Amino acid sequence: MRVLVTAGPTREAIDPVRFLSNRSSGRMGYAIAQALLAAGHEVVLVSGPVQITPPDGVLSVQVESALQMLDASLAAWPDCDAMFAVAAVADYRPKQVSEQKLKRQEGEGQFLELIPNPDIVATLAATKQQRLVIGFALESHHGLQHARAKMQRKCLDVVVLNGPEAQGAASSRMTILKSDGSQHDVGPLPKAELAVELVRYTLANGAD
Ligand code: C5P
Repeated sequence: MRVLVTAGPTREAIDPVRFLSNRSSGRMGYAIAQALLAAGHEVVLVSGPVQITPPDGVLSVQVESALQMLDASLAAWPDCDAMFAVAAVADYRPKQVSEQKLKRQEGEGQFLELIPNPDIVATLAATKQQRLVIGFALESHHGLQHARAKMQRKCLDVVVLNGPEAQGAASSRMTILKSDGSQHDVGPLPKAELAVELVRYTLANGAD
């Protein structure tokens, strides 16, 4: 199979030197890319800015913003058989990107108007046909309920539920939920081992 993986955070520019982003390390997405390679798949890794290097053998596409990640993912999708959406895409971006560095206004507050970013996994899942689409849900409360709702809303085949402690951590646990109603709890384990189990469980038993 040829598999698309999105990973890492996105950066949403405010001006030439500032951006909005989040603490995603990219570790889980890169571990999944590695596990996919080890299982004999081809991987297109579309990644936001991270401190780690892509595994040897992946086709790596580096992006910054959610819009760039969407474009790169849409370009790769027609040739892929499955997608793991692991990126922590910023929900919003500044409505206007200032061409010049914003100046501090002495003693005054500053408003930043934000607009929603497109949902990358939902956009691709809308044209998935027989292809397998796997998304992640990072939830602090009522995780199972929210994760199942997300699976339906975004048209996913599988959703992987994590707690907030997973972000940036080397090890974590996950609950893999499938659209057939099944549930599989894994960990705590290092992310590399979680990734191997996720690939085994979803691609071995998942929809072909
Ligand atoms: O809605 P939420 O952000 O919790 O959904 C998380 C899942 O959706 C992850 O798989 C993430 O990669 C994906 N996502 C996306 N594009 C967005 C927001 C989330 O692909 N704009």
